[in-house]
Amino acid sequence: MTITLKTGSDITALRIAGRLASEVLDMLTPHVQPGITTEQLDKLAHDYIVNVQQAIPAPLNYTPAGYIPYPKSICTSVNDVICHGIPNDRPLKNGDIVNIDVTVIKDGWHGDTSRMFVVGDKGSIAAKRLCAFTYEAMWKGIAKVKPGAYLGDIGHAIQTFAENAGFSVVREFCGHGIGQVFHEEPQVLHYGRPGTLVQLEPGMVFTIEPMINLGRREIKEHNDGWTIKTKDRSLSAQWEHTLIVTETGYEVFTLSDGSPPPPAFITATST
Ligand code: MF3
Ligand code: CO
Ligand code: CO
Repeated sequence: MTITLKTGSDITALRIAGRLASEVLDMLTPHVQPGITTEQLDKLAHDYIVNVQQAIPAPLNYTPAGYIPYPKSICTSVNDVICHGIPNDRPLKNGDIVNIDVTVIKDGWHGDTSRMFVVGDKGSIAAKRLCAFTYEAMWKGIAKVKPGAYLGDIGHAIQTFAENAGFSVVREFCGHGIGQVFHEEPQVLHYGRPGTLVQLEPGMVFTIEPMINLGRREIKEHNDGWTIKTKDRSLSAQWEHTLIVTETGYEVFTLSDGSPPPPAFITATST
């Protein structure tokens, strides 16, 4: 297993890519309204990344081993879609929840981030609670990041928080190392046991991106080659940040003016 450590100018470039990815979500936010289609959101994002940011949307034509090329520039995962939802021509409805996942490549370096949106003003209490708890679960994992901690500490923090709230954690997809490669080592599981797996070192860069289901954790693969849904058709939520392990803790790369504030248990001086 080889985890590449990032230093110096790598980190400067990752900071830029991370902020750009987050700024795409900032740009999209006012457009996430009842009636818009996810294909329209994809076009807005694509044009902004290519023309304004002069960057590359990493998902477009991305073809991991065993997959067909991903056909769009962002992922839009609505309601019972867990991840990798392909933008389409169905309008979002008042009360839907949608994850928008953006990955940009700038000067060869990746930034990968996603947020949940509750569409309109009719989201159910359960839907809003799932989105809010999943956000907090991501930050419970981030808060564990410092040199000497273990990847298992991150997974355990996320799993215990989510399961104590009555939700389930998806096992088949995980966070990942990232840099000049979209998905690299290590795998960052969102469940596990403290003190297990890889020990963290300064310069490691990876995502934390828990997928949390309102019902059971089992998944179902759609026949489009990409879309993953909950087997029991229950709602699913996900948030994602890209971060680096620093000498004293972590630095989140995928922040921008429109990022939701971290929960109160996160101190502003963790780096
Ligand atoms: N952005 C996703 C992640 O967080 C990966 C999407 S792959 C795609 O890892 F091809 F579907 F875009
Ligand atoms: Co990711
Ligand atoms: Co992502």
